[in-house]
Amino acid sequence: MSERVLWHNARLASLDGPAPWGWIENGALLTEGERIAWVGDASAAPAHDSVRDLGGAVVTPGLVDCHTHLVYGGQRAREFEMRLHGAGYEEIARAGGGIRSTVAATRAAGEGELLALAQRRLDALAGEGVTTVEIKSGYGLSLEAEARSLRVARRLQGADVVTTYLGAHALPPEYTGRQDDYVAAVCDWMAALQAEGLVDAVDAFCEGIGFTPAQTRRVFEAASALKLPVKLHAEQLSDQGGTQLACKFDALSCDHLEHLSPAGVQAMAKTGTVAVLLPGAYYFLRETKLPPVAALREAGVPMAVSTDHNPGTSPTLSPLLMLNMACTLFRLTPEEALRGMTVNAARALGLADRGRLAAGLRADFCAWDIEHPNELAYYFGRNPLRLRVRGGRTQP
Ligand code: NIG
Ligand code: FE
Repeated sequence: MSERVLWHNARLASLDGPAPWGWIENGALLTEGERIAWVGDASAAPAHDSVRDLGGAVVTPGLVDCHTHLVYGGQRAREFEMRLHGAGYEEIARAGGGIRSTVAATRAAGEGELLALAQRRLDALAGEGVTTVEIKSGYGLSLEAEARSLRVARRLQGADVVTTYLGAHALPPEYTGRQDDYVAAVCDWMAALQAEGLVDAVDAFCEGIGFTPAQTRRVFEAASALKLPVKLHAEQLSDQGGTQLACKFDALSCDHLEHLSPAGVQAMAKTGTVAVLLPGAYYFLRETKLPPVAALREAGVPMAVSTDHNPGTSPTLSPLLMLNMACTLFRLTPEEALRGMTVNAARALGLADRGRLAAGLRADFCAWDIEHPNELAYYFGRNPLRLRVRGGRTQP
């Protein structure tokens, strides 16, 4: 039997139960191996083998970054500069830059190099409290290069990794003028990648510069045939109705959503699909159209918040900054933002075993040097993380 450890002297934002923040002022947690065995008021703590003093810190669930593109070669600072000289994101993409330039750099990099680059990025996320991260492929765009990226994602240390196959991210140069053939290839590769244990979910970029709803449907049909859950980069630059399509396939999440229509909101509410909001991309592309947060809230659509770390539209490695931006730019409340990077982010990954502090869930939590959890969204550029525990173990 595993050791029963009582983590006490904690002020818990459990995000569980009806109280705001799931707050427990004089809180304690009992962990047993990788799991939480009990959460509650310290005065009622059950029997235990050892204690750890959390020093009065605010304790939250470990952060879940549910949408990233962490594995890639190169960077796109030059493209950032071009945009400041007046070029548009879509214009650069259509001219063969954008995602395609990262594809070239990713294909040219060896597996060891990709691993080292991605590990450094993951370390930065973990340094701000991330214990679970989703990582998409989509910068390889061949069977071999997509497999390599997903294998790298699986090899990363320091957080639990959920992998998403995003073959339908952009058209690789060797398929120029043959978009439907490429979509067929993306569907063909899926089974091989799944057989290698590399795919937890399937994503697509449904957009004018990405793939049409009809092509996205084919990718989703292939995923459904393999019983893989789907999610979608939807309505980022225009309203394509991708969200309604994704909901027909019971999508775990639709992500970005700046141009989401009222019909899209209703579709998400019906299927319980999570709206993943990505303030970093909104900020970095200097978008002006806001995602319909009030309508999503009104309809009861769960909202998540993520870094969308990628070299083109969101080169941030700060989940805490995203909590701040979710509030300042998108007008989420600090509690909605934190729920967005814990419980709702876990839901966007189909993970019911984390995201809250409750008995039976994974012992993933963070202790912060703050007085109140609203400070996590308040500061920007300050990291108050004191301690990160993953699967019951204190992380370096
Ligand atoms: O989440 N929208 C598509 N994919 C990424 C951007 C990829 C890139 O520009 O490299 C995103 O914004
Ligand atoms: Fe993305």
